[in-house]
Amino acid sequence: MSVIWLSVFLMPVSCLLERDPDPNAPISNIRVDPRRGRVSWDLNGSVAEITCSIGSVYTSKANNNTYCQFYAFSLCKTTNYTIRVTSGPPFSTLLQYPKPDGKPGAAAENLTCWIHDVDFLECSWAVGRAAPWDVQYHLYLIQPDTYEEWECVHYTTDTQGRRTGCCFDDISGLKNHHYHFLVNGTSEASRIPCTEIFATLSEIEILAPPSISGTCNKSYSLMEWKMSSHFSSDFVYELQIYKGADPTHLDTHTVIDKNSYELVNPGTYTARIRGKNNLGYFGETWSSWSPPRSFECDNDRSLGAWPMMLSIVLGTLLTVLLVVLLCRRFSVVQKIFPPVPGIRDPIKDFFHNNRLVDWEAGAEGWQECSVEEVQAVGET
Ligand SMILES: *[C@@H]1O[C@H](CO)[C@@H](O)[C@H](O)[C@H]1NC(C)=O
Ligand SMILES: *[C@@H]1O[C@H](CO)[C@@H](O)[C@H](O)[C@H]1NC(C)=O
Ligand SMILES: *[C@@H]1O[C@H](CO)[C@@H](O)[C@H](O)[C@H]1NC(C)=O
Ligand SMILES: *[C@@H]1O[C@H](CO)[C@@H](O)[C@H](O)[C@H]1NC(C)=O
Ligand SMILES: *[C@@H]1O[C@H](CO)[C@@H](O)[C@H](O)[C@H]1NC(C)=O
Ligand SMILES: *[C@@H]1O[C@H](CO)[C@@H](O)[C@H](O)[C@H]1NC(C)=O
Repeated sequence: MSVIWLSVFLMPVSCLLERDPDPNAPISNIRVDPRRGRVSWDLNGSVAEITCSIGSVYTSKANNNTYCQFYAFSLCKTTNYTIRVTSGPPFSTLLQYPKPDGKPGAAAENLTCWIHDVDFLECSWAVGRAAPWDVQYHLYLIQPDTYEEWECVHYTTDTQGRRTGCCFDDISGLKNHHYHFLVNGTSEASRIPCTEIFATLSEIEILAPPSISGTCNKSYSLMEWKMSSHFSSDFVYELQIYKGADPTHLDTHTVIDKNSYELVNPGTYTARIRGKNNLGYFGETWSSWSPPRSFECDNDRSLGAWPMMLSIVLGTLLTVLLVVLLCRRFSVVQKIFPPVPGIRDPIKDFFHNNRLVDWEAGAEGWQECSVEEVQAVGET
C-alpha cells in the first residue's frame, strides 16, 4: 500500500501530486481538481474496476477507471480519499486533501446561511475561539458547475470590527444549484483555516408568505395570492378561513398548485394563508402566516337597500350627537364614557391566544440585509 501525502493548498486548477514511487502500481500520478471535485490518476495496463472511498466509506465507482467524481468536495475539512483497484492483485492508495493547514480554532465557526424576503441571501458565523486578534474573514459563494465564485460585499462586524456576517442583496441571477459557501480568513499572525457548508438554495430559503387579495359579493368570493421565490415554483398552501364573528368557526383548506380559492355565499369572514415547497419529501417548512384579511361580502349593494341603510346610519348619528350635546351641557361625559381599556376583537384574540402568529406583523420578516440581527447571532 502506498500512502501519498498531498501538499497542496487550495488551488483553482488541477494540481500535480508527487509521483507514486511504485513502478508497478496500476495507478499513478494522482491529481486533485478541487474545483471540479475530482480525483484522477494515470492508469498503467488494463484494470477491471476502481472504486473510491472517503475514509472507509465506499462512495463511487471510478468513471472510465480514470477519475472519481465527488459531490460536495470539501476544500476546508481534511479528508482521506482511498482509491482501490478491486480486481487482480489488491492495490489501494490513500490521499489526504486538503492538508491540515493554519491555526486550529482560528477558523470561523457555526457558519449558517439562509435566504429571506425573496431577494436576500444571508450568512452568519462566529469568530473562532482561537482566532488571532487581527483576524478578518471573507465569505465566498462558489457555484460548482461553472466554478464561478463571488465574494460577498455587505459584511457586518462585531464590536471589534471582525466580520461575523454578510448578505448578498440580489440573488435573482443565481440558479437553484447546490452551492458551496466558504469562509476563509487572513491575519498577520497566522494562517486561518477555512470553514464551509454546502446547500441547495431552495432548501435554505425561508419563504415569504403570500398575501391575499380578492373580491366578493353576497353570493361569491374569489381570493387570490402569489408566492414569490427565485428558486421554487411549485407550492402547496394552507388557507384558513374564520367565518362570521365566531372565532372558533375555522375551516382549513389545502390548496395545491393553484393561486386562488372560491367561496359561495361567503358572508363575512377572515382569511390567512401560508405556503411551502411542494417537493414531496418530508421536512419542507411552512412560511409564516400572511397577515389576515377580512372580507365583508354581506353588503347587499342593490339599490333598494341603500335609502334604508342611509336613514339608519343618519338616525344613529343624530341620536349620538344629541346625547353628546346634552351630556356636555351637564358635564357628565367623563362619568358616562370612561376610557374603556382594550376593546378586543374576538378573532384577533383567537389568533393571539393560540399563539399562531403576531396579528399585525403577520410575517415578522427581514425586509433587507439586516445588520443588527446578524451581529446578534455572531456575538452569542
Ligand atoms: C506499467 O506496469 C508495468 C508492470 O506491470 C511496468 O513494467 C511499467 O514500468 C509500468 N509503466 C509505467 C509508465 O508506470
Ligand atoms: C476513457 O479514457 C481514455 C484514456 O484512458 C480516453 O481516451 C477516453 O476518451 C475516455 N472516455 C471517456 C468517456 O471519458
Ligand atoms: C486520515 O489518515 C491518516 C493516516 O492514515 C490518519 O492519521 C487520520 O486519522 C485519517 N483522518 C481521518 C479523518 O480519517
Ligand atoms: C457554535 O455553536 C455551538 C453549538 O450551538 C456552541 O456551543 C459554540 O459556542 C458556538 N461557537 C462559537 C464560537 O460561538
Ligand atoms: C479564500 O477562498 C477564496 C475562494 O476559494 C479564494 O479565492 C481566496 O484566494 C482564498 N483566500 C485565502 C486568503 O485563502
Ligand atoms: C357576484 O359576482 C359574480 C362574479 O363576479 C357574478 O357572476 C355574480 O353575478 C355576482 N352576484 C351578485 C349578486 O352581484
